[in-house]
Amino acid sequence: MAFTSLNIHLLPVFVFLLSTVGVDAGAAYLSNGLQNDYYRHSCPTAESVVRRVVRANVSDPSNPNNLRFAAGLVRMSFHDCFVEGCDASVLLNGLGTEKTARINKFLQSSEIIDKAKQELEKVSPGVVSCADILQYAARDSVVALNGSSWKVQGGRRDGCVSRADSADSEIPSPDLDLDGLTASFNRKGLSRDQMVILSGAHTSAAGHCENLVTRLYNFNSTHATDPSIPAAYAAQLKSLCPQRTFNDSVFIVLDTVSPFFDAGYYVTLEQHQGLFTSDQILFDDPRTRPLVESLTDNKLFEKDFGEAMRAMAAVEVKLYEGEIRNDCRMINPY
Ligand code: HEM
Ligand SMILES: *[C@@H]1O[C@H](CO)[C@@H](O)[C@H](O)[C@H]1NC(C)=O
Ligand SMILES: *[C@@H]1O[C@H](CO)[C@@H](O)[C@H](O)[C@H]1NC(C)=O
Ligand SMILES: *[C@@H]1O[C@H](CO)[C@@H](O)[C@H](O)[C@H]1NC(C)=O
Ligand SMILES: *[C@@H]1O[C@H](CO)[C@@H](O)[C@H](O)[C@H]1NC(C)=O
Repeated sequence: MAFTSLNIHLLPVFVFLLSTVGVDAGAAYLSNGLQNDYYRHSCPTAESVVRRVVRANVSDPSNPNNLRFAAGLVRMSFHDCFVEGCDASVLLNGLGTEKTARINKFLQSSEIIDKAKQELEKVSPGVVSCADILQYAARDSVVALNGSSWKVQGGRRDGCVSRADSADSEIPSPDLDLDGLTASFNRKGLSRDQMVILSGAHTSAAGHCENLVTRLYNFNSTHATDPSIPAAYAAQLKSLCPQRTFNDSVFIVLDTVSPFFDAGYYVTLEQHQGLFTSDQILFDDPRTRPLVESLTDNKLFEKDFGEAMRAMAAVEVKLYEGEIRNDCRMINPY
């Protein structure tokens, strides 16, 4: 009797919850097949081992420049998820793999994932996927950069396909305008708003001259240099990046307000100091300017960023196909 009446009363609540999940794109991760605390039984130390390895590397007090490697891991999570889904395809070595793509030229920090994997293989062999390690490490990197934390889901399996041409076609170029950027994220089931929020990762980013060629020297037939760059900033960028003699050791910090993981990136956009077209357009285009302005609030940015990362980390994940790699750099031998 009591059981029946309970069912009757709970049914509408369940239907309501399910439909809420269905309409809110930002909550799609709730039903993506991944789980919080995924390794709590199979490898209880999984997340803490990753955290320790990331921290040991990027918070090395003898070398504060190691914080750049933290940014590298955040970018790597994005470049993994946009190609074949979040399946660690970006970590595979070999002829013509994603790692060799032009767009991945400056990707860094894969050694940190290797280290975490090696430690986890010692405690729980064959259990924790490289794809999950990468997403945990991205979160831990944000925390190392003084950003706020979020719950990372687990359960991704590692993929066996990795192609450079897919990376170059799936990962958006820094020369894209708002429609191009939005289309790129929409193809992965992510919204324009999520694109603007995830771009906030550039708060701790740096860029290389090679990616500024178009904007500084080859913009269009009437303007060699993008006229949206203020003259003084354009002059500064050109002196760092003299035409045709790019030095790969030179990098330009995007968020000149603060290197930490905060809303400073959006403030630099308001100041017209976005490094790439894909950054500045978020403020310059009237469709996304209001969101950029609201994200200059640290509290709002931190909350939205974690939610958007959970959504991105669920893109095209493999729940049944694929494998748990033994070595993040290569697929398992038969
Ligand atoms: C919206 C489209 C995006 C474009 C066009 C874009 C483009 C770029 C470019 C050109 C660089 C500099 C590479 C170099 O010259 O070294 C960069 C760096 C970076 N990006 Fe993005 N990005 C986008 C979105 C994202 C997202 C969604 C994330 C993560 C959530 C992200 C995280 C980073 C980080 C952390 C760096 C710095 C990496 C390092 O210093 O090693 N980006 N991005
Ligand atoms: C930190 O990680 C980077 C990038 O993977 C690597 O080159 C460097 O040797 C590591 N440093 C330490 C102290 O672990
Ligand atoms: C680090 O984060 C805390 C809390 O979010 C903030 O109060 C503090 O100013 C931040 N520190 C730096 C150096 O950004
Ligand atoms: C070049 O870009 C500027 C600024 O966006 C624009 O006003 C101009 O019409 C463009 N020229 C051509 C030929 O597309
Ligand atoms: C490239 O830049 C680095 C760092 O600024 C500098 O040490 C090096 O001398 C430069 N190399 C050339 C060939 O200009």
